[in-house]
Amino acid sequence: MNVVILAAGKGKRMHSDLPKVLHPLAGKALLAHVIETSRQLGAARICVVYGHGGEQVRETLDAPDLGWARQEPQLGTGHAVLQAMPALAGTTASTLVLYGDVPLTRVASLQRLIAAAGDGALGLLTAHLNNPHGYGRIVRVDGKVVRIVEEKDADDAERAITEINTGILVAPTAALARWLPTLGNRNAQGEYYLTDIVAMAVSEGMPVATAHPEASWETEGVNSKLQLAQLERVYQQNLAVRLMEQGVTLADPSRIDVRGELICGRDVSIDVNCVFEGRVVLGDGVRIKANCVLEDAVVGAGSVIGPFARLRPGTELGRDVHVGNFVEVKNSSVADHSKANHLAYIGDATIGSRVNVGAGTITCNYDGANKFRTVIEDDAFIGSDTQLVAPVTVGRGATLGAGTTLTRNAPPDQLTISRAQQVSIPGWKRPTKNANAKKKD
Ligand code: UD1
Ligand code: CA
Repeated sequence: MNVVILAAGKGKRMHSDLPKVLHPLAGKALLAHVIETSRQLGAARICVVYGHGGEQVRETLDAPDLGWARQEPQLGTGHAVLQAMPALAGTTASTLVLYGDVPLTRVASLQRLIAAAGDGALGLLTAHLNNPHGYGRIVRVDGKVVRIVEEKDADDAERAITEINTGILVAPTAALARWLPTLGNRNAQGEYYLTDIVAMAVSEGMPVATAHPEASWETEGVNSKLQLAQLERVYQQNLAVRLMEQGVTLADPSRIDVRGELICGRDVSIDVNCVFEGRVVLGDGVRIKANCVLEDAVVGAGSVIGPFARLRPGTELGRDVHVGNFVEVKNSSVADHSKANHLAYIGDATIGSRVNVGAGTITCNYDGANKFRTVIEDDAFIGSDTQLVAPVTVGRGATLGAGTTLTRNAPPDQLTISRAQQVSIPGWKRPTKNANAKKKD
């Protein structure tokens, strides 16, 4: 099977310089969702029809298994699919047409459509809507589909039809190659309508099958920021349900955002307002407290994160690690039973087991040009408000006194401290306001 993805539309109503199909849903471009769906269907060839801003689309999402066809100017959906036909030459299978701005169609729904059409029929994904306004209507005679009429071309009786064309269809590739060049554009919009192939199939005696998505959001498209936000909520809601079905405890399923892949062990609990980006792995019994942001991070079993913690890419935490409020970890590994409970930056560091990182500790990993690593060995104790100027190593069992600026390695098992000596000045007077000073306005 082939898939043609239509993505040439301008997306004016997004009011954005970014091409519509590149707007992210759950952290991934709309079109990337459709490409992913096509791959899950096992498509032999995937051809994206692009137009407006298309070079940027192509550069952003190109992959070895994708073909690209440029449509310029955009003369309608039939004209769009026609542009993809050279890329499908020599394939005998059927071709599924998807839309680059319809991101959430379920694979199962498409499989039902493909099965309904079989090898020799035209298959349409249709839906019954209470308010069908704006959609192409499915015209049936004696229960059989005979054609699709667009809203703008329909008469009153046709407008009353509530079965609509979602736009998604599957057709024998050879039939498409035959039909598409013969499409006309004598209609209300002066466009070459893909939907006109339905009447062509019927006139050839080809059966027209239909299938329906289970949920209306499966075939909803994104034309505006409002619709984008609505489908984002649908996606997040579905994902939250899946997580809970796997046994994850969510304090509030409407207050979690997963923009990538979240893999959870048993008995994971996630409090409200947490954002997961990229690939995040949470081991058994991990607790994520409220208001955390985790990106491309691995959290070992029994660890507790947050509230208000940020784990950035390359964070690998062992078992029973505590990362508390206002702690940021980046490109660092922290081994079992270590803790950084308050206000710290741990960047480019390798931290051993049972290490205590005091409040206000900062790894100074960047000199303005290059980045360096900090190594903290097992059982070290890092006093509060310490700066570790990398590259630097804190030996096993070492203690750093509070306020230390560490610029050379700290030997194991010793107290290392760098601190200006404390002085007290007897008789010192606190300045007082000068009563004669002119009041400034
Ligand atoms: C189309 C269908 C209509 C259906 C509706 C579902 C036709 C003639 N009509 O109408 O029956 O109910 O979708 O939303 O097919 N596109 C291109 N190149 C073009 C024109 C469109 O790539 O020249 C792409 C758009 O980017 C979009 C999709 O095709 O992703 C649909 O185009 P749109 O203009 O929204 O079609 P409708 O007029 O809504
Ligand atoms: Ca549309």
